Amino acid sequence: MLDFAVNVASPAPPAWLVRRLAERLGSLGRYPSSADELAARTAVAARHGRSPDEVLLLAGGAEGFALLPKLCTHAALIHPSFTEPDVALRGAGVRVTVVMLRRPYALSHAVVPDDADLVVLGNPTNPTSVLHPAKSVLALRRPGRIVVVDEAFADAVPGEVESLSRLSLPDVVVLRSLTKTWSLAGLRCGYALGAPEVLQRMATGRPHWPLGTLQLEAIAACCEPEAVAESSDRAFRICDERAALATELEELGISVNLPAAGPFLLIDVADGESMRKGLREKGIAVRRCDTFPGLGPDQLRIAVRDARSVRRLVTAIKELL
Ligand SMILES: Cc1ncc(COP(=O)(O)O)c(C=O)c1O
Repeated sequence: MLDFAVNVASPAPPAWLVRRLAERLGSLGRYPSSADELAARTAVAARHGRSPDEVLLLAGGAEGFALLPKLCTHAALIHPSFTEPDVALRGAGVRVTVVMLRRPYALSHAVVPDDADLVVLGNPTNPTSVLHPAKSVLALRRPGRIVVVDEAFADAVPGEVESLSRLSLPDVVVLRSLTKTWSLAGLRCGYALGAPEVLQRMATGRPHWPLGTLQLEAIAACCEPEAVAESSDRAFRICDERAALATELEELGISVNLPAAGPFLLIDVADGESMRKGLREKGIAVRRCDTFPGLGPDQLRIAVRDARSVRRLVTAIKELL
């Protein structure tokens, strides 16, 4: 199907990255070395202006969610957002309070319980595409609380504005993913940035060699300056493509949640369920949103794609309308 549902940039990673990973295949007979681990952490640290002990390498951002129960007893989760943190925290028996934002899903409306010792939010947020100002995120800090910002899509924002990744704070953890920009969903690569003491608590009890040699190589490669420059160029392209997509959709009378900052748009469409199924019959996949807390069947998420793909989508929507 023509894929507007999944936010991974392309079906495969760029050729230079595939080549680089292939070069490491011959070393798989050995366990990952501490030199590889340190090289990856050092590359991440340099990319974000941090020190290597402020970096915890992860098997995808999702592993970061699985480690959060070690930090808290009562978690407040800002929604609508990605549901993986709920699954990980509730599964570990942590008390969870859902803090629901109303349209246009701005953080200024958030009422977080005072006794929450962990707050999790996405920035920019999946699926609303809202980018919260860094100062609103920082306003969630309280004594005894850790604020976790899932920045899985922050590299799609030009200049990574509003990212907290470069800020060394004792109570803020940033989770980053290499899945989307680098089309590495199958390799599982991400990392956390935070105070060494907090990261150590998260890492307690992890097995030895939690990441393989290829994951370490990919993390190092994607944090080198050439890769960061490539991702930055891509972020500007996404902006243009997102603006074009939003205009096309609005011209069809579809309401788009704006301003948007992620590589996807949240839209409202009458009888969204029929629209989604109709598009599927035409070979086009869009993401249903009724599985996100606070959203319903008339809301759909559409990935930002190139002009040719958008033309096909718009034609199909027109026919269905
Ligand atoms: C908002 C958000 N955060 C985190 C993740 C997890 O990404 P990863 O593949 O790095 O585990 C996803 C994946 O869909 C996501 O959408």
